[in-house]
Amino acid sequence: MRAISVIKREHRNLHAVLFTLEHLVLEIEKSDKAVDFVVFHGIVYYLDSFLDRYHHPKETDYLFPAVKSRCPQAKEIIDALGYQHAQGEKLLVKLLKSLSAYEFLGPQGFQGFRQAVTEYVQFEREHARTEEREVLPLAEAHLTSADWQRIDTVFADNQDPIFGRKPQAEFRELFRLLGNVVPAPYGLGPELRPDN
Ligand SMILES: [Fe+2]
Ligand SMILES: [Fe+2]
Repeated sequence: MRAISVIKREHRNLHAVLFTLEHLVLEIEKSDKAVDFVVFHGIVYYLDSFLDRYHHPKETDYLFPAVKSRCPQAKEIIDALGYQHAQGEKLLVKLLKSLSAYEFLGPQGFQGFRQAVTEYVQFEREHARTEEREVLPLAEAHLTSADWQRIDTVFADNQDPIFGRKPQAEFRELFRLLGNVVPAPYGLGPELRPDN
């Protein structure tokens, strides 16, 4: 059942990045400092690399089918969560487009960007919470040790581009930038540092 703690840890990492994103947007509302678009693009790049290409596929391909086959009553919620993985990708594209508009238009593009960030953050937060509240307890109760052997192997392969065993160089820099914005416990604290 090591996969359960890996999923929870990955959700914690995600929450720290989402919190930082929200915080950066609030800062823009409160001050007239120049906006650092590179940081926003770094966050979008991270969310695409981590959430959509790394975390969600492991759930879709391994955890969800196992829970569905052992607990037929979970079919509806698992199907909804699988659908949300695709919806989340679309919301990230929407966020990226609103970021481009903001960058090009200047302050008049801010409201659209702010709305896209709020929508995305709320959506992904709720998605992760639903998994922890509804799916992980079912998995813990019903999956067999053979199921866990397979799933744990996949989740133990810790290639998280920023928090994994070998964080990619470009994400080290992003982590440093984000860590300066919001420190732990809400943002990226030392326990989440890439080289830990
Ligand atoms: Fe998910
Ligand atoms: Fe998840």
